[in-house]
Amino acid sequence: MLEKTVEFIKSKVGDFVPEIGIILGSGLGDLADEYCDIAINYSEIPGFEATAVSGHKGRLVFAELNGKKVVMMQGRFHYYEGYSIQKVVFPVKVMKKLGVKTLILTNAAGGVNPSFNPSDLMIITDHINFMGTNPLIGANDNEMGTRFPDMSEVYSSELVEFVQKVGDSIGVDLQEGVYMALTGPSYETPAEVRMARTLGADAVGMSTVPEAIVASWAGMSVIGISCICNSAAGISTVGLTHEDVIRAANIAKSKFKRLITEVIKKIK
Ligand code: HPA
Repeated sequence: MLEKTVEFIKSKVGDFVPEIGIILGSGLGDLADEYCDIAINYSEIPGFEATAVSGHKGRLVFAELNGKKVVMMQGRFHYYEGYSIQKVVFPVKVMKKLGVKTLILTNAAGGVNPSFNPSDLMIITDHINFMGTNPLIGANDNEMGTRFPDMSEVYSSELVEFVQKVGDSIGVDLQEGVYMALTGPSYETPAEVRMARTLGADAVGMSTVPEAIVASWAGMSVIGISCICNSAAGISTVGLTHEDVIRAANIAKSKFKRLITEVIKKIK
C-alpha cells in the first residue's frame, strides 16, 4: 500500500520533494490554508481515511514556505477515532518516502504542570507512551528502521534549543516539557492527571506519540510543539469541553503560526 500511496501522491505533485513535514493539531490547521500550492483531500489518497473531527480538515497540503518545501497534514488520524495504530502512523511513513527529513508534530494538549496557562506553547522535550500500544508492533520494515529502535533522543536537545532560540528571536515565550499520550477520547479524571504529573508529565494529549515513534524509528528529526489549551482535569476547577480547547487554540494560533514559519525559515 505504501508504494501505491507514494506513487499516487507523486503523480499529483510531480517533482516537488518536501524536506519538512508538519502535522497540524486541533485548531492549528490554518497554516495550510495560508500556504497552499497543491492540496489533496485524504478521501482521494489510497491508504488514507476521510477524517471528520471538529477542528480538522482532512487534506495533505504541499507548499513552498519561507524558501523550504513542506508537506502539511491538515488534520491527523487519531487512535480514538477507531483507526488501527498502523493507520494513525501511515502518513508519517508516506512522508518519509516522499523525502521528509524533519517532522514537526503539533497538538492541542492539557496542561499538567501547574505553572502552565491556557494558550501557552510547549516544546516537547520527551514523551511517555501511555496508549497501551506501539505503532511498531508487527513485522518490521528493516529498510525503514531497526527492530528495536533507540528512543533516548526522539526530540533532540539541539532542536529543542534551536526552537527556544527561534521563539526568543520573535518574542514568543515557550514552555518546555514531557508530553504523555493517552488514547482518549474521554478526557482524564483528576486522579489520572495526578498520576500523569507523578510519572513526570507536563502535558497530556491524545496524539503525537505514535507519529513521533515512527518518525524517529525511520531516522527523521522530530520537533514537537503542544498548544496547552486548558489546565488538565482537577488542576482547573472548571469542567472541560472540546469547544474550550478549540477556543484556546484559536487564541494561540497567531503566535503558533509565527513560531512555525520562523522555525521553517531558520532550520538547516
Ligand atoms: N487532555 C487530553 N487531551 C487534550 C486535553 C486534555 O486536557 N486538552 C486538549 N487535548
